[in-house]
Amino acid sequence: MTDSKVVLITGASSGIGQATALRLASQGHHVVLGARRTDRLAALAERIRDAGGSADPHHLDVTDQQSVTTFVDTAVARHGRIDVLVNNAGVGPLSRLDALLTDEWNHTIDVNIRGLLHGIAAALPHFQRRGAGHFVTIASVGAHEVMPTGAVYCATKYAAWAITEGLRLEVNPSIRVTTISPGIVESEIADATTDPATREAIRAFRKTPISADAIAAAISYAISQPSDVDVNEIVIRPTTQR
Ligand SMILES: NC(=O)c1ccc[n+]([C@@H]2O[C@H](COP(=O)([O-])OP(=O)(O)OC[C@H]3O[C@@H](n4cnc5c(N)ncnc54)[C@H](OP(=O)(O)O)[C@@H]3O)[C@@H](O)[C@H]2O)c1
Repeated sequence: MTDSKVVLITGASSGIGQATALRLASQGHHVVLGARRTDRLAALAERIRDAGGSADPHHLDVTDQQSVTTFVDTAVARHGRIDVLVNNAGVGPLSRLDALLTDEWNHTIDVNIRGLLHGIAAALPHFQRRGAGHFVTIASVGAHEVMPTGAVYCATKYAAWAITEGLRLEVNPSIRVTTISPGIVESEIADATTDPATREAIRAFRKTPISADAIAAAISYAISQPSDVDVNEIVIRPTTQR
């Protein structure tokens, strides 16, 4: 470990975010953990500290711009800088459009699109002032293809891909931008699907996931490259996923 970074992770209370926190902390990075379930974050921070790592748990609701600004500004005040923001928080309730679950559509848009934009708005000024920084967006293979019941979720992930690519094109080259697009990964994401018919189909579709640590390893790879190397996108699926 040569280069210890201050890494902020949204949605660190389970799944990919939690696995990323554990892997990066074990590599000597300081991790700042954000999510709404602060009991989970406190337990995770304790686990990281017990293993010799360093972590701050922080309440975060990415749909609330002020909450995201406070999350980032508090980390800057505490550590003097931030190096990486992993915009990972996301929800994925799936259903056919004719189920008309409009509240779920709106919530998915609020978390997956507005939450990402709030993260960019909060961290970009710090990265610009410092002339360094790294945004990592967790998109999805759903940013590249649409499946029935995934219209709204995939739309938010296409948006996440487009926003992140637009960011990459616009920012000063001192700021790095990475999109990670996972396939089926072990996590709690499928629990949010309320539509009974879709729940059954999704359970079958998700029966051979890869571990969340496989995505954490890709994030670790992207952030550990030399500063002139920008890993722009990694797509990672189970070998069985078509
Ligand atoms: N698992 C997969 O198969 C898969 C595939 C492709 C992409 N992804 C993407 O990977 C990312 C992580 O998902 P996951 O699979 O690890 O699912 P997960 O286990 O359900 O984790 C989602 C995380 O997002 C957080 N979150 C949700 N709403 C939030 C909010 N309003 N504010 C702050 N945090 C919020 C949750 O924390 P709290 O509930 O405690 O707030 C949780 O920590 C998502 O962007 C997802 O779309 C997952």
